[in-house]
Amino acid sequence: MTQTALTVHQLDAMKRDGEKIAMLTCYDATFARATDLAGVDIVLVGDSLGMVVQGRASTVGVSLADIAYHVECVAQGLERTFLLADLPFGSYHDAATAMASSVRLMGAGAAMVKLEGAGPMIDVVDYLTDRGVAVCGHLGLTPQSVNQLGGFRVQARDDAAVDRLLRDARALEDAGAQLLVVECVPSAVGREVSSNLGIPVIGIGAGAGCDGQVLVMHDMLGLGDRPPKFVADFMADAGTIRGAFEAYVLAVREGRFPGPEHEY
Ligand code: KIV
Repeated sequence: MTQTALTVHQLDAMKRDGEKIAMLTCYDATFARATDLAGVDIVLVGDSLGMVVQGRASTVGVSLADIAYHVECVAQGLERTFLLADLPFGSYHDAATAMASSVRLMGAGAAMVKLEGAGPMIDVVDYLTDRGVAVCGHLGLTPQSVNQLGGFRVQARDDAAVDRLLRDARALEDAGAQLLVVECVPSAVGREVSSNLGIPVIGIGAGAGCDGQVLVMHDMLGLGDRPPKFVADFMADAGTIRGAFEAYVLAVREGRFPGPEHEY
């Protein structure tokens, strides 16, 4: 039987009901089909493809055409799973450019687009959401700013930075964002952001208190050379890729992933 795709309302309901949301990155149709069959709720065509597919040192060189191509591939494999796509660096620096980029990714099959940061991005989110684009924010470690941040480091380590993160998260929600990714922050901060917002908050290296979890697919399949602390290898015990996705979904749903050993 053909399943219908998840909607933002169902993701909201999962947060309200305390049901954890399982999200993975994905870049092609075959893996998309496997994530869908395994019960993954959201797949993200992330600009992490610059690193895990294209072999770059960062996400900065990824183009809109790259993301659009992979969104088209992933869309072919999905029935139930919600399809989120990254707006790459340089594709959303002003509202009109962000709108044109979002239209391109939605035309390729994305149900929602994700952009990094707050500040000037709040007006961009406002503009997009006023025009029918579903938007996900991304705070904490924002990999597109790696050259400013001086590396991939844990964020929101002091009170001022935590306050700023909370303010930015609320501003994104007020501007109409319907989902938020928070990356590489202490677990207490991930929990606080999640409990302060009405929209679902998906953590990566942000602790078990978030409304859901996301990992880069290649990392959770044990393919990373030097995986960060927040990654678990779900392939090690599962034996098959589909089994690894199922084990991940179950571990997220049951609150077993992330464990204390994965938290900052
Ligand atoms: O590009 C990506 O894979 C991401 C995740 C790390 C959330 O943004």
